[in-house]
Amino acid sequence: MPLTIAPSILSANPGRLSQTAARLAELGLDHLHLDVMDGCFVPEITFGASLVRALRDESDAVFDAHLMVADPARHLETFAESGADWITLHYEATPHIHRLLTRIRQLGKKAGVSINPGTPVEMLSPLLDTAELFLVMSVNPGWGGQAMIPACLDKVRWLKERTDEPVMIDGGVNARTIADVAAAGADLAVVGSALFRGDPAANLAELRAALA
Ligand code: DX5
Ligand code: ZN
Repeated sequence: MPLTIAPSILSANPGRLSQTAARLAELGLDHLHLDVMDGCFVPEITFGASLVRALRDESDAVFDAHLMVADPARHLETFAESGADWITLHYEATPHIHRLLTRIRQLGKKAGVSINPGTPVEMLSPLLDTAELFLVMSVNPGWGGQAMIPACLDKVRWLKERTDEPVMIDGGVNARTIADVAAAGADLAVVGSALFRGDPAANLAELRAALA
């Protein structure tokens, strides 16, 4: 399966998100990665379900909500109702990851689990039949524009040997690293700063050229 580029609007102009959604559709990108930060699980605060709901009216893309929040159980219903199609939780954020992933599935959404760079990928072993998406953080969550931690690519390889569900990598993907991401077997790559810093069309062409 070819690598899908999942634009993260974290690095886009927050005052122009509806225009950005339209631009991404023009560029043939039909996936939107939504980085939700609560100022607790990670230091920064970004946005919540109300913004997802507002953007839902502007875009037909797959909405992929990455919840970097300390108490995800409180937010599952709200994000499901907001129009998120995929809801991804952090393994590190809850002692009840299995129950919460099951709840997301019951809500009719794709249930994702994410791990930080410091978390061994083997922790996902008991969730291989429960999670429907595996999000490998290749930077420490909290900020866009960081350098990829290359050892995280081994986690992608580990997962690809054990699941047919999509494996996504998040953090530090750019024209220099994207070929390694594809070679590791990732199905989706989140791209924030490498797409939105400068001209998205030119950046996308550079990313696609690096993959060719
Ligand atoms: C980091 C976020 C990422 C981030 C990626 O906490 O989860 O999605 O936006 O940004 P870049 O592509 O700039 O590393
Ligand atoms: Zn993310």
